[in-house]
Amino acid sequence: MDLPRIFTIREGDHRIHNPMTARKLAVLGEALRLAPGSRMLDLASGSGEMLCTWARDHGITGTGVDISTVFTEQARARATELGVADRVEFVHGDAVGHVTDPPVDIAACIGATWIGNGVAGTVELLDRSLRPGGLMLIGEPYWRRTPPDEQTAKDSHATAIADFAPLPELIGRFQQLGYDVVEMVLADQDSWDRYAAAQWLSMRRWLDRNPDDELAPRVRDELTTEPARYAASTREWTAPGLHHGHPAVDHLDL
Ligand SMILES: C[S@@+](CC[C@H](N)C(=O)[O-])C[C@H]1O[C@@H](n2cnc3c(N)ncnc32)[C@H](O)[C@@H]1O
Repeated sequence: MDLPRIFTIREGDHRIHNPMTARKLAVLGEALRLAPGSRMLDLASGSGEMLCTWARDHGITGTGVDISTVFTEQARARATELGVADRVEFVHGDAVGHVTDPPVDIAACIGATWIGNGVAGTVELLDRSLRPGGLMLIGEPYWRRTPPDEQTAKDSHATAIADFAPLPELIGRFQQLGYDVVEMVLADQDSWDRYAAAQWLSMRRWLDRNPDDELAPRVRDELTTEPARYAASTREWTAPGLHHGHPAVDHLDL
């Protein structure tokens, strides 16, 4: 059970595996008015930057769960580097169906709602680990403008236009599920570049080190095609098209 190696070739040098910069993560942490000692669960925690920096900056504690051994190791190393290894732990494992007890103050899944088969299922999954009145964080893409055709959506790494909604509709979906949307920090074209374009240098350097690797032809091909694809679709069509939104959803006691 591990993340396919192609992801760690592309993103192994990333601290944040989303179109969020360190600054945006910090803004989100500040916006949430986190109380020291708050307990957080982060499903699909990647390299642990959110938990580690919020433990350092706001005194929270927490657990991250991620299927990637490489990212989980990076998260543990980052916790040590930031001096918060006694406050956060990183578990290598499948986040599908992962529920923690006792329930936490903050339950998060940023950029991986497939673990719950979509937004509604991920909200339901996180809710099972969240104390009444706790805070839920969901990172989910949305269309800034609906793409003109299905091919444009596919070029933007969606399977179909129907995969995502415009932001007002996404907010409405959280509300229909019984939650107030109480904060949000959104990606922009610059933060998309930090996520997408940073992968190209990682691929270039990996190719230089591993010219005979079995994945080298695939990485070579991606490095040739990906920058223009990104510029033409994810960045242009999808941004004005697609952004990752990170609405913070306040749990309602129903
Ligand atoms: C887009 S990245 C987001 C990572 C992190 N939330 C961040 O913002 O840096 C998606 C993450 O989901 C993890 N992942 C994918 N499937 C998973 C699963 N079934 N269980 C746990 N983690 C998973 C990947 O290893 C990767 O770290």
